[in-house]
Amino acid sequence: MYGFGSLIETLKKNPKKIVFTEGNDPRILEATSRLLASNFLTPILVGNEKEVMEAASESGFNIRGAQIVDPENYERFDEMVDLLCEVRKSKGLTKEEATKMLKQGNYFGTMLVKMGVADALLGGATYSTADTVRPALQIIKTKPGNKIVSSCFILVRPSATGENEVLAMADCAINIKPSEDDLVEIAIESAECAKIFGIDPKVAFLSYSTLGSGKGEDVDKMRNAAKKTQDAKPDLPILGEVQFDAAVSPRVARTKCPDSEVAGHANTFIFPDINAGNIGYKIAQRLGNFEAYGPILLGLNAPINDLSRGCNAGEVYSMAIITAALS
Ligand SMILES: CC(C)(COP(=O)(O)OP(=O)(O)OC[C@H]1O[C@@H](n2cnc3c(N)ncnc32)[C@H](O)[C@@H]1OP(=O)(O)O)[C@@H](O)C(=O)NCCC(=O)NCCS
Repeated sequence: MYGFGSLIETLKKNPKKIVFTEGNDPRILEATSRLLASNFLTPILVGNEKEVMEAASESGFNIRGAQIVDPENYERFDEMVDLLCEVRKSKGLTKEEATKMLKQGNYFGTMLVKMGVADALLGGATYSTADTVRPALQIIKTKPGNKIVSSCFILVRPSATGENEVLAMADCAINIKPSEDDLVEIAIESAECAKIFGIDPKVAFLSYSTLGSGKGEDVDKMRNAAKKTQDAKPDLPILGEVQFDAAVSPRVARTKCPDSEVAGHANTFIFPDINAGNIGYKIAQRLGNFEAYGPILLGLNAPINDLSRGCNAGEVYSMAIITAALS
């Protein structure tokens, strides 16, 4: 597993609290026991205390010291209902509807972040991406200046020389058909996120065409998005539209776009839509031996992330560190 040493150092200087929305899940409990053994991240587990403790003892994990909060008897529940109604007043949310929503771990956990009880949230061990992300979109919303929430994956391939190959790919998980302007925001946010993981971003807007070699609406979309991003961030190395081979292979780059500093060396990849992005990162993961961390949500007003339902405890532990370190 990638070490995330610098993220842990950041957290040690400023320890955080992270809420897990599925407190009974054995993978969450294993990650919680590991986090409790270190002292940089305090887990808060959503669930019934007796059930969570029983699940921990059945799966053999020591979670002594973990904070467990139960929507059924949370002392600030009424305050939470009122705040949710206030946040969703434009939708006419009633107290009864808010109460029902807050009995679910995903909404309850998101409100713990909104109320400042937790700094960050990690969910999705059993909830779908949509059910983890929707409460965040509705309650936490985009940060000032951003129009959309998007996501990126960080891909890490350990090398024999000890120098990891680290890449960013976006948006592989949230925006199904991003517009040109969405892609600009996705690229800028992904480049910022890439820097946190030690990448000096070189951004490629991927397509089936390289600098006009092919024609089509999506080619225009990627070319225009690259141009708009370059206008917004003149110092960021950007290339688009470009095919994946020209983006990563110096040999192909010499033929297809010899004048670009990004071609052949791209490390931050922007895909035209979620089909390409989701398939693309999984190919890197399953056939390219990259470890995939994410989706890391970008543009949200607080750090909230989604786990894959197929995740293991090690991935929960890594994503907890990533999520909290971004807060
Ligand atoms: C993210 C996603 C769940 C949102 O879908 P949804 O909940 O049906 O979205 P809705 O259109 O009902 O919008 C719900 C709220 O979120 C907001 N929203 C939706 N997408 C958003 C985005 N990308 N950025 C910011 N806000 C967004 C809407 O404005 C709306 O806000 P409001 O209720 O305050 O008006 C949806 O885009 C999706 O399913 N994406 C793909 C997820 C997936 O399957 N990924 C692959 C596996 S990793």
